[in-house]
Amino acid sequence: MLTDIERHALRRAVEIAADDGVPLGPNPRVGCVLLSPGGDVLAEGHHRGAGTAHAEADALARATASLTGATAVVTLEPCTHHGRTGPCADALLDAGISRAVIARRDPNPVAAGGIDRLRRAGIDVELDVPEELAAAAAHLNRGWEHGVRHQRPLVTAKLALTLDGRAAAADGTSRWITGEAARAEVHELRATCDVVLVGAGTARADHPTLTARPEDGARVPRQPLRAVMGTGQFPALPTPEGAGEAITLATHDPSAALADLFARGRRHVLLEGGPTLAAAFLRAGCVDELIVHLAPTLLGTGPPGLGDLGITTIADRLDLDLVEVTPLPPDLRLTLRPRAA
Ligand SMILES: NC(=O)c1ccc[n+]([C@@H]2O[C@H](COP(=O)([O-])OP(=O)(O)OC[C@H]3O[C@@H](n4cnc5c(N)ncnc54)[C@H](OP(=O)(O)O)[C@@H]3O)[C@@H](O)[C@H]2O)c1
Repeated sequence: MLTDIERHALRRAVEIAADDGVPLGPNPRVGCVLLSPGGDVLAEGHHRGAGTAHAEADALARATASLTGATAVVTLEPCTHHGRTGPCADALLDAGISRAVIARRDPNPVAAGGIDRLRRAGIDVELDVPEELAAAAAHLNRGWEHGVRHQRPLVTAKLALTLDGRAAAADGTSRWITGEAARAEVHELRATCDVVLVGAGTARADHPTLTARPEDGARVPRQPLRAVMGTGQFPALPTPEGAGEAITLATHDPSAALADLFARGRRHVLLEGGPTLAAAFLRAGCVDELIVHLAPTLLGTGPPGLGDLGITTIADRLDLDLVEVTPLPPDLRLTLRPRAA
């Protein structure tokens, strides 16, 4: 059972782990708060990306008072491996803590084992944390966790569709079929992913910038890598000041493209279409989450929102689980997951 002070400290640890200045990429985002036996905050720390101190080491280095009998409140299980930094479980033991509150087990087999190590050393380890905080800690690292489990980035595919499932008007005049709220959300989504990916057809038709541009004009701390997938010619993406790097993935194979992005340290891809590429990813089982912005408008003709999935009979249909329906006036946002994923 967590005390109120520990619950508050865990909320704070999640908050500092989410620091906007920390790059996404191949390392988890982790926060740590050290509490004295009396509940005072002795130090806070967080991980700032590959090659930097882990959250626990960062907090330990900042503590000036004795840590004997202290409680370590961390968003992720302390590691036990010797990487570029030493094992955090050992560092906490050496510092003299007597209790640890841990929001999330480490899915990485190389690093896990911290909970056991602490318990074997007689530390009181509390894993029963409020659902909302466990979920927040997990959400921070969903791309990273997906990478650990599947060795490829998490893929969120986003489609904007008319009510009759069209992606664009027949004459190509429909660059935006959704309203301002949905479009603003796309910029928010881009800022939370580390890659924005489109097919070469979209690059040829729309000349998209693919940068995250918040409505209020605020600076985005991390612009995503911009990637165009295809083997033919397409114009270079417009590159306004501050835009992320742009690359070409010269392949038609979704798994190969994702392997390339994974090797570049990328862990969350926002696939923004178009219809042909989205269908290719769905066919290959490479979509983990689908966000549909559904506009209450009809076109009747024009390209369908999704290309050929190779399905010719109802038994082969691709079922999705509807996770959430959210009004984004005048549109609707549907969040779905392919059932097999
Ligand atoms: N409503 C929406 O959400 C939305 C989003 C984006 C785009 N759009 C609209 O969609 C239209 C463009 O549609 P599109 O289907 O041509 O665009 P697309 O899916 O972006 O691009 C298709 C191109 O991607 C390349 N490609 C990469 N992997 C592929 C694979 N596995 N299979 C086939 N091709 C692959 C091919 O280019 P290469 O021949 O060069 O290899 C192909 O011609 C535009 O009108 C755009 O405005 C709508």
